[in-house]
Amino acid sequence: MTARFDSPQTIVTGGGCRGQAADLLSAMRAHRTLLVVDPYFASAEFVMEIRSDLERKGIASDLFTDLQPDPTDQNVAAGTEGFRAAGADSILAIGGGSALDVAKMIGVASTNAGPLSEFQGYHRIPKAGAPLVAIPTTAGTGSEATKVAVITDTTRNVKMMILDSKLMPGAAIVDYELTMSMSKPLTAHVGVDALTHGIEAFVSRKANPLTDPVAISCITKIHANLRTAWADPGNAAAREAMSLAALQGGLAFTNSSVCLVHGMSRPLGLLFRLPHGLSNSVLLPTVTRFSWPGSKARYAEVARAMRVAGIKSSDEFACVALTDWLQKLNSDLEVPRLRDCCGGDVEKFRATLPKMASDALESGSPQNNPIVPAASQIVELFEMAW
Ligand SMILES: [Fe+2]
Repeated sequence: MTARFDSPQTIVTGGGCRGQAADLLSAMRAHRTLLVVDPYFASAEFVMEIRSDLERKGIASDLFTDLQPDPTDQNVAAGTEGFRAAGADSILAIGGGSALDVAKMIGVASTNAGPLSEFQGYHRIPKAGAPLVAIPTTAGTGSEATKVAVITDTTRNVKMMILDSKLMPGAAIVDYELTMSMSKPLTAHVGVDALTHGIEAFVSRKANPLTDPVAISCITKIHANLRTAWADPGNAAAREAMSLAALQGGLAFTNSSVCLVHGMSRPLGLLFRLPHGLSNSVLLPTVTRFSWPGSKARYAEVARAMRVAGIKSSDEFACVALTDWLQKLNSDLEVPRLRDCCGGDVEKFRATLPKMASDALESGSPQNNPIVPAASQIVELFEMAW
């Protein structure tokens, strides 16, 4: 089989490595940078420090913070306008997946005409965007090292998945110190999202010898550290491991793929306004239970790597142990049940199921799953997760 592995040209990791942002932008010949920053961090001290570093390097900076969780085409349009008005030549993204995805699309919209919907799908962006450096403040999406952006098309009310190697940041700066302030629920939801990236990348029909070890390393780190990062938010070692795991999860899935959990999670998040990490978390155990019979050996390998099943256990035993562990992880981390995320109105929920199932299939992700479900099976899975 042929395989290709894309990644940022430079990845720096470790406590305090955000101090390298100005040098990395300078190496990209930046003179004026648009900072695309999560509104939560708009006046954070570390952002001010980075701006001072940029100034010392002779790089002017403008701030753009007008974006929302599950960002939209309107956020990108506003940012692109800001980019042009400032005469920027580069972008520094700071925040969770939303800020990073908006920054990626601002870069691309600054060099390509046409509505973003033209870029929906795979490899449809004609020209590379402005140079981009990405600094994540959560340990979850791995967006700092992926060639994917998810942006809501507000006209059609669809979450567009846009995949193109031109979306890969030029540099990723993974500084776990910026994740220390994540709340417990956010730590849980983005942590299980990162775990989903590792598992889906490993069981995907697009898994390959380059992504497998990265995915397994992501999974074992999360198994060993997510509970600690959640229970003891100030634990630097656990936070650092989770940041590295999220980075690896991004690298793994962007060069393999995500599967059914993400396919179902996007319409669920859109219709019920659930953040990405939460909508994946509530689905992971149910979808794993459905999917493992299609790839027993791979799921069993995940279970053994995590040591939730012994080396000599049968594949079936290991797959059941994995599913049980995922369910227990959710309950220990106080991830709510789907019904509690959707207002508890089962009739309203059922009315949305046909659209959610067809949107899930249309995204293309379920087609990479070990078992490719029919629309009726996706409806059943949503019901089971309820
Ligand atoms: Fe995800």
